[in-house]
Amino acid sequence: MTIIQKERTENMSDNIKIGFIGAGGNARGHMQRVNAVDGANIAAICDLDAARAEETAKEYGATPYTDFRDLLDHEPLDAVYISIPPNAHGEVEVLSARKGLHLFIEKPVALDRQTIDRVPPEIEKAGIITCVGYQLRYWPTALAARDFLSGKTVGMVQARYWGGTPMNPWWRVMGVSGGQIVEQATHGVDMVRFLVGDINTVYARYARRGMGDLENLDIPDVYSLAVEFANGAVGTISSTCLLNTGGGSGGSDIDIILRDCLLHWNAAGAQIVPEGTGTLNTCPYGETTIDAVFVDAVKAGNGSAILSDYFDGVKSALVGIAANESARSGAPVRL
Ligand SMILES: NC(=O)c1ccc[n+]([C@@H]2O[C@H](COP(=O)([O-])OP(=O)(O)OC[C@H]3O[C@@H](n4cnc5c(N)ncnc54)[C@H](O)[C@@H]3O)[C@@H](O)[C@H]2O)c1
Repeated sequence: MTIIQKERTENMSDNIKIGFIGAGGNARGHMQRVNAVDGANIAAICDLDAARAEETAKEYGATPYTDFRDLLDHEPLDAVYISIPPNAHGEVEVLSARKGLHLFIEKPVALDRQTIDRVPPEIEKAGIITCVGYQLRYWPTALAARDFLSGKTVGMVQARYWGGTPMNPWWRVMGVSGGQIVEQATHGVDMVRFLVGDINTVYARYARRGMGDLENLDIPDVYSLAVEFANGAVGTISSTCLLNTGGGSGGSDIDIILRDCLLHWNAAGAQIVPEGTGTLNTCPYGETTIDAVFVDAVKAGNGSAILSDYFDGVKSALVGIAANESARSGAPVRL
């Protein structure tokens, strides 16, 4: 524990004070869930859009800001949520960590290697608790699937994230979102890592086949990755945002092939196929939200229940960054 952390913990009242940097659609969901956790108080909200900051701050009795530096300088917080477009990460995490604030950071943690090189040493130095918004890991079916796979040899994985194009204007701009694998299918990449293990090689091909008519869109609309895992398994990961009128599940679908059976996982649940070749135990941890886990971790000063901290989140982000590099160069990228 650093000196800043120690003073903060000693001064901590029963209610922890939480700030938000970014008050868009995703942050609003977190605000509702944080507000539902006992002992959490949303004290300050910052957004570049002043009306958005004012409106959400009013809803939670918080102080509005439009510059996160002002929020960090003026608010005696315990933790901040950072929910901003992928290209805006870096300085926000560094300055928050230097204040000794625990961090909830939305995925992806970055879209470039410079940010990934810069932020972790600051987090390490600050000794803070971090949590990255890979909430699928906390679903009971994900934990049950992980228990089932533990100790088994995975042969091959096929993961897909097939859906439509989100409406945020920044989402369709490569330099802001990083494209669909980095920004959205990162949930599938992360779940595959959670269930099967680390990915060590990525070869990617991308194309724009149907969305060229959308204004200000410069991202590909079909993405295909061949990956190799550190444990020797191989796999493919694909994503598309072409299916605006349906046809994909709009989320992560994962098939994991073992000897004589496969495990299928998606938002609807997990199944072993064929039936009778294995049993999924009920998850021993029960239902929770990632926000309850993070708030409780901050209250207890102990991050051990968090399933994806910043350092782990970096590994999932790096798969997307490597895929983009591979798609550009035409060569496989080793992580
Ligand atoms: N975990 C999930 O399932 C999930 C779901 C949706 C979005 N997200 C992530 O959440 C993040 C935000 O997405 P969103 O859908 O809420 O986008 P959004 O466009 O609705 O909101 C982003 C907000 O950030 C604000 N902003 C940008 N830079 C800022 C800065 N420097 N300081 C303060 N505010 C700033 C913008 O003004 C905007 O209001 C993205 O990283 C996205 O990938 C995660």
